[in-house]
Amino acid sequence: MIRRFLAQVIMFRSYQIYGMCCLESSAPENVTGEKIFFLTSKSVDSFSKLTSQLIDLNRENSNYIDDIRRDLMVGVIVEFCGKLVHYGFLYKHNRTSCLLGLPHGCALIGNSFTVPAYRGRGCQGRSVLARGLAAREAGFSAIFAETSIENVNSGKGLVKAGMQHLGRMDLIVIARVFVIRWRRPTGFSVLEFCT
Ligand SMILES: CC(C)(COP(=O)(O)OP(=O)(O)OC[C@H]1O[C@@H](n2cnc3c(N)ncnc32)[C@H](O)[C@@H]1OP(=O)(O)O)[C@@H](O)C(=O)NCCC(=O)NCCS
Repeated sequence: MIRRFLAQVIMFRSYQIYGMCCLESSAPENVTGEKIFFLTSKSVDSFSKLTSQLIDLNRENSNYIDDIRRDLMVGVIVEFCGKLVHYGFLYKHNRTSCLLGLPHGCALIGNSFTVPAYRGRGCQGRSVLARGLAAREAGFSAIFAETSIENVNSGKGLVKAGMQHLGRMDLIVIARVFVIRWRRPTGFSVLEFCT
């Protein structure tokens, strides 16, 4: 009981942080059979087949689709030979960006997923570059990503796409709003207030 209460008041999180300027980043290379789709607030409702496939892969994606409709996110979907093989998101505004202390004008990418049979073909890298283009289009100058400390596969894909591994971040969130980043990559501030 006390432990559960404390877990709500004090939250510890550790991440690996990656970043990339997207002002001059290149477009993803064309791979025969692959097609990349951008789901934006304007286009999402014209991709009903893709959105239902997204939800079939993970029910929680319906929340992301709602956020795309509200223009809080952009979704990038990769199809191979007509089948959805990868998805990933660009978060234009979200709480995690504040918790991480991303600089103004920078966006977070995340929730990448490649279906197991298609892993290891560099798809995550192409999706990162596509999300970089979407970020630039939305007026951002850089994209950042976080992974769990042990997610080596994801980190490799991000670096292959051109992102720089900036280092580890350890933070504490107190009462859901006060953030203390007691270990952080160079340039990130120690304290933050996130509502
Ligand atoms: C992380 C993930 C998105 C990477 O996608 P991907 O399209 O396979 O990315 P890449 O092709 O660039 O491969 C990245 C690394 O995955 C590993 N990998 C290669 N083949 C693999 C396979 N068949 N199965 C699992 N991992 C494989 C390799 O280490 C590869 O790096 P390398 O080619 O330099 O050795 C994918 O593994 C995934 O969906 N994982 C589960 C969800 C997840 O962890 N998401 C990230 C949250 S931050």
